[in-house]
Amino acid sequence: MQSLLNKKIVLGVSGGIAAYKTPELARLLMQEGASVQVVMTGAAQQFVTPVTMQALTGNPVYVSQWDARIPNNMAHIDLSRSADAILIAPASADLMAKLSLGLADDLLSTLCLARDCPLLLAPAMNRQMWEHAATQRSAIGLQEDGVGLLGPASGFQACGETGMGRMLEPTEITDQLIAFFQKKLLAGKKVLITAGPTFEAIDPVRGITNHSSGKMGFAIARAAIEAGAEVQLIAGPCHLETPLAATGKITRTNVVSAKEMHAATLQSTDYDIFFAVAAVADWGIAKPSKEKIKRQGNKTPALEFIANPDILLDVAKTVKTKAGKPIPYCVGFAAESTDLEVHANEKRKRKGIPMIVGNIGHETFGSDLNQLLIIDERGSKKTAKAEKLQLARQLIQIVAKKI
Ligand code: C5P
Repeated sequence: MQSLLNKKIVLGVSGGIAAYKTPELARLLMQEGASVQVVMTGAAQQFVTPVTMQALTGNPVYVSQWDARIPNNMAHIDLSRSADAILIAPASADLMAKLSLGLADDLLSTLCLARDCPLLLAPAMNRQMWEHAATQRSAIGLQEDGVGLLGPASGFQACGETGMGRMLEPTEITDQLIAFFQKKLLAGKKVLITAGPTFEAIDPVRGITNHSSGKMGFAIARAAIEAGAEVQLIAGPCHLETPLAATGKITRTNVVSAKEMHAATLQSTDYDIFFAVAAVADWGIAKPSKEKIKRQGNKTPALEFIANPDILLDVAKTVKTKAGKPIPYCVGFAAESTDLEVHANEKRKRKGIPMIVGNIGHETFGSDLNQLLIIDERGSKKTAKAEKLQLARQLIQIVAKKI
């Protein structure tokens, strides 16, 4: 799935060492289906050449407002007219100051002043330049003018110092641009999500768990942030990066056992939607051994199980009705080996929740693809087989209508 299909992006490059990452950014934007038109400042060309950017994007690169290749000689007007957004990465302190004042003394700054499309900046500079009162004034002023700031992040800098001012990674910038274009169906809403498996210890080195990569739950977290929500993600043991972490719109709590997941979930109180996507172990071990259980020939140890708390059931008990709508709106998930619709719907009723989503087929474990059966009190609807992120966006659309 290409999330920037048919989008025309003007990619501005200003002078900063982070420009060495801009060619990679251009490639990622194009992989997502965008067409990329690069505009560079004079200083940017000290770090990366127009030839590089042209070879990667397949489009001529513009560096001067006097460029005679534009038929009417008005590059500053022509280049942005058909663009869906101007993205500048890196955006230097100098460029930010210029844009906040409305100065227009080269092609890129003139283009920004003359634009009729959104402008997003990925600042990149030394930490003292970022912290300087003048830069902070520019950042605040630009945001007041409706300009989006992607980052910066904190970390190791090319100058050898560590601090705020690092440009976001090209993947993070791409993901945030994708998010920017999604409809804000959950603006102002808070979403709680459990994801991944749980792990129930037998002893310090062994345990039992469920199949679950966490991909579906993490995709829902990403889609919810894209839709404008704030997300609390409670994740069992899985090796996935927190989606859209650089937006600051997501907090992640890592847990291991079902008991821990239950405690972390029930600690949260203020949210509008709950997606119980985690594959929670139904049983834990009654008395996990503190020491590793030693093998004794062919003798097998007897394990006593105890039932784990049902997280979704307990959250469903806290639901209140506001203006005729249940808060939080609870969405369960079900993986079944037979009669998915019957079992899933029975589960929905037993847990007292308005919606349950069945995973069609077992090959979905660990895969990027899935197919869903979405069941509510009015009936069921099967989705097409698609990437989990695409399905997550569909699900967010459906749930957004419900609340
Ligand atoms: O009860 P069962 O595990 O079959 O139902 C699956 C749904 O219930 C999923 O949404 C899952 O996240 C949730 N669940 C839970 N706590 C449990 C067991 C399942 O939240 N202990």
